[in-house]
Amino acid sequence: MAFSPCKGLTRKSVKVLVVGNGGREHALVWKLLQSEQIEQVVCVPGNGGTANMENCRNFPLAVDDFEGISKLAQEHGVTLVVVGPEVPLAKGITNYLMQQGLMVFGPTKAAAQIEASKAWAKALMLEAGIPTARAAVFTEAGAAKSYVKAQGTPIVVKADGLAAGKGVTVAETVAAAQAAIDAIFQGQFGSAGKFVVIEEYLTGQEVSVLALSDGLTIRPLLPAQDHKRIGEGDTGENTGGMGAYAPTPIATPALMERIQKEVLEKAIAALTAKGIDYRGVLYAGLMITPEGDFKVLEFNCRFGDPETQVILPLLATPLEELLLACVQQRLGQMPPIAWKSGVAATVVAASGGYPGEYEQGKVITGIEQAVAQGATVFHAGTKFNQQQLVTNGGRVLNVTGVGENFHSSIAQAYAGIQCINFEGMYYRRDIGHRV
Ligand code: AMP
Ligand code: GLY
Repeated sequence: MAFSPCKGLTRKSVKVLVVGNGGREHALVWKLLQSEQIEQVVCVPGNGGTANMENCRNFPLAVDDFEGISKLAQEHGVTLVVVGPEVPLAKGITNYLMQQGLMVFGPTKAAAQIEASKAWAKALMLEAGIPTARAAVFTEAGAAKSYVKAQGTPIVVKADGLAAGKGVTVAETVAAAQAAIDAIFQGQFGSAGKFVVIEEYLTGQEVSVLALSDGLTIRPLLPAQDHKRIGEGDTGENTGGMGAYAPTPIATPALMERIQKEVLEKAIAALTAKGIDYRGVLYAGLMITPEGDFKVLEFNCRFGDPETQVILPLLATPLEELLLACVQQRLGQMPPIAWKSGVAATVVAASGGYPGEYEQGKVITGIEQAVAQGATVFHAGTKFNQQQLVTNGGRVLNVTGVGENFHSSIAQAYAGIQCINFEGMYYRRDIGHRV
């Protein structure tokens, strides 16, 4: 089925400003620029990948420089601002830019609490009757530690606020849980340390369901599976995500239907009841239990990274049409989201030492060869230094394969990553090991 451009959009008439500098943002820019309707993308601050694309320009502003971003958007006459990361959303970038008359894809500050406060999200889930892990919230260490002792281990200790994916400890022993509680209340996560959420430990497989919401209608994208731990076999520290694939077969159509009714629609109804009009991505991180049931581990208020890098290559509906439909609250009038057949898989190449300390500025080679193998390479922590592409972050590249099935897509991703090199490069060799 062909898609007619939505009202007011004509060929090459749309300019988009994308906020962020990760693999997710490179994938968003890449997808947007495939559309006939997109004239130009402006990226703040962007990375080495977005620096190199035709019709895309990077501007070195901070993601929370709302005034600067607003001016840039006005100067370029952008139609739509798309916000990638959670930090500017939690700080209210959407509220600010909307006040300046701009259209923004991404929830408001009040709505972003669904990610920015785990205690707030937990209360919302309880109010809405959304299945989630049993939890208790504490404001001081003593009571939290007594609770842990009474509950036993394993148990999960979470800092309340944004902590760049590092605020969660799955504690195997009471001592480890207590150390995590101390670290949080001693301020290791800054203002994220005002509350501690202590949660029942769940086992099973994690699935990321990213959904588009216009505040009235919510529609899921293809379910993806991330690999959060640094080590093979899902061991070691949590990271932002080391690889992903979509669609994941564990989220069967029947399960997706239940997630739609029991999670996504309930969340939107509960938000609406609070007077929150949620327009953007609602990302539910779910644990699928061994019995095939599910519980929500967390909500995020944005596209997942690296999930976006495997969802967007399969999207057939023009992305900007969906994003604008969310902002203009007409998602319910859109035809069903169309997908290409097949599977996409991505493997993250990280700097040695990540998620701990790592060095930057290492020269990156082999991307052209990876692309010649058929892989798509989304940049994350990269930049140009005197015309040389160098590392500039923990997660550096996302090497993505698209194929008829999981095996062909993952083979393409690994064939691609084997062409790439930088000093200290690390990647997991077992992405998709559960398939
Ligand atoms: P969160 O930021 O809340 O998603 O937590 C980060 C990661 O910690 C999740 O992706 C899981 O791998 C793990 N995790 C969080 N909550 C739990 C839980 N209740 N049981 C087991 N693992 C969890
Ligand atoms: N991949 C996990 C996240 O985006 O939070």
